[in-house]
Amino acid sequence: MKRIGVITSGGDAPGMNAAIRAVVREAIAHKLEVYGIHRGYKGLLDGEIGQIDRSFVSGIINKGGTVLRTGRCPETRTHEGMARVVEMLKRRGIEGLVIIGGDGSLAAGSKIAKAGIAVVCIPGSIDNDIYGTDETIGFDTALDTAVEAIDKIRDTADSHERVFVVEVMGREHGFLALAVGMAAGAEFTIVPEVKFNFEKICKELVRAHEVGKRSLIIVFAEGAGNARDFAERIEKCTGYETRLSSLGYIQRGGSPSGISRILAGQFGAHAIKLLLTGKKGRLVVKSRGVISDIAIADAMRGKKKLDASMLALAHRLAT
Ligand code: F6P
Repeated sequence: MKRIGVITSGGDAPGMNAAIRAVVREAIAHKLEVYGIHRGYKGLLDGEIGQIDRSFVSGIINKGGTVLRTGRCPETRTHEGMARVVEMLKRRGIEGLVIIGGDGSLAAGSKIAKAGIAVVCIPGSIDNDIYGTDETIGFDTALDTAVEAIDKIRDTADSHERVFVVEVMGREHGFLALAVGMAAGAEFTIVPEVKFNFEKICKELVRAHEVGKRSLIIVFAEGAGNARDFAERIEKCTGYETRLSSLGYIQRGGSPSGISRILAGQFGAHAIKLLLTGKKGRLVVKSRGVISDIAIADAMRGKKKLDASMLALAHRLAT
């Protein structure tokens, strides 16, 4: 293999730059030519691809976002769109492709792999919802960002004796919310994967208030329903002043944590090792602390399981 491409796709995640840096530097150290694909698949279809060198990735390990830029590209969901993606890659002589992104990237990656290009995916997403890996790049940073925000919200919750519903990202999954709820000491965490009993939550909020709790935080995963309606219902049923705070895109930005950077470096290096040893159609993962890889097809078939016992523990410790 002589020439590889690297692309970031889907939502940006802190640590993607550290992953690009690792991919580029490991590849060049092994005498591969590296082509950067700019602005995700949309950019590729527009011909935004060119050779990059070590200096392209200088000074980016600490930067959030992705220097390659990214985007969601509806064309990749169509047969014709994917055929054009493959044609563009082949036309530029790309024999191997490293895709850094979330679950949407897996779907595109598997189609490109079927067309004969050696594909390796690196999980990059704040949602941590990819099967087979304990952690995705960016998750740890987003967790810290959300926890820091909730620590601040708690000051207002405490001073005004309010209930706060804090909405966190995660698409249709609650992995980020669960970790945030546990780390922020939230009294309740609501995730899409686990049914909740609204009346019980209200009763427990009242009881917690009666025994002297002055700040009550409910972490609410965006995929669990309408957070505003939920907050309004909580106010009605408890009688306590309740506010909604949606953390939104601050969770995706910012300088990556040490953990996100280390993971990105390990994932990037492993991806190049796979390409050099002729392995293709793989997803790089970290499982039980060890960096390894699984078939992209297995990752797409699998369903990551949320640890519901942690949800109960977070609640027990907070109330
Ligand atoms: O997948 C990452 C994520 O931030 C989700 O948590 C969120 O639902 C989604 O992306 C938002 O996507 P967009 O940037 O396209 O609005």
